[in-house]
Amino acid sequence: MILGIETSCDETSVALVADDGAIHANVVASQAELHAPYGGVVPEIASRRHLELLAPTLEEALARAGLTLDELDGVAVTVGPGLIGALLVGVSFAKALAYARGLPLAPVNHLHGHVCSLYLAPLALEPPFVCLLVSGGHTLLLDVREREWSGCRRLGTTLDDAAGEAFDKGARLLGLGYPGGVEIDRLAQTGDRFAYRFPVARVPGLDFSFSGLKTALLYAVRDLSREQLARRRADLAASYQHAIVRALVERLEASGAERIALVGGVAANSELRAALPEAIAAPLALCTDNAAMIASAGRYTVALRPDEYLALDAFASSA
Ligand code: KG4
Ligand code: ZN
Repeated sequence: MILGIETSCDETSVALVADDGAIHANVVASQAELHAPYGGVVPEIASRRHLELLAPTLEEALARAGLTLDELDGVAVTVGPGLIGALLVGVSFAKALAYARGLPLAPVNHLHGHVCSLYLAPLALEPPFVCLLVSGGHTLLLDVREREWSGCRRLGTTLDDAAGEAFDKGARLLGLGYPGGVEIDRLAQTGDRFAYRFPVARVPGLDFSFSGLKTALLYAVRDLSREQLARRRADLAASYQHAIVRALVERLEASGAERIALVGGVAANSELRAALPEAIAAPLALCTDNAAMIASAGRYTVALRPDEYLALDAFASSA
């Protein structure tokens, strides 16, 4: 039984996952409401809230799974990439807990965690496949050969904004709430995706670019009066989302991959899922940040012994 801990951004999450990939508990305490007034995550507020939420979230996970700390075999924690302060809260908590119990600690890369959302029951996907990892901070096309992170090769990435960032910034331009992806997804259902023709960036290889698209939306919005924007908002959201989805689908097609998997927050997008009916998408609850995927990755990460992990550090960026 592995205890997973995730605090890289604004979700405080604790999960219990068995070695066979069965999820015994996956509690996600979202801080979204706390950050909504600021239109984005405020790192310092996120760190402080993780500190308040971690212990009760752990208690709730244990209660839901009907387990005690005595039944744990190991701890897995996100060490990066993410907000450094937020990560340090999770890493310190995990170290203290593991050390007090004499348990091994697996330092998990958050991006590997997203891929490992595919290895949980009942999906339990087996490599090889090509994975599109689309989140608020990252856009990666990965050639996945093994379940270990070393078995994932990067085929392409974004040259500027991440796909989720494009959704969030677009939502802000449209005057929608935070987090923006869900809001655009919902509003787009009532709009015409062909009302505006937003550009799909042409970049060499299998890389992505979303900053031009964001600028195109800015120009479209700038030309509208407040009343016009209110009337066209759903069409703008639908057309903008359609351009992001087109960009992602085109790259997947260009990769020539036969077996495609989708993970990360943007993989929850309804148009993206519908546009790729053959693709294997992570279950909705496992797309956005959660600790079950981190515990899952813990199964494929070399765990450290107590004398090895006391000096373990977090890292903000993978570059
Ligand atoms: O994976 P995630 O929870 O956190 C990161 O690791 O970044 O992804 C969050 C991102 C946000 O940008 C959010 O707007 C986006 O995922 N997102 C969506 C949807 N749900 C979440 N984007 C498009 N459509 C959705 N339904
Ligand atoms: Zn994430």
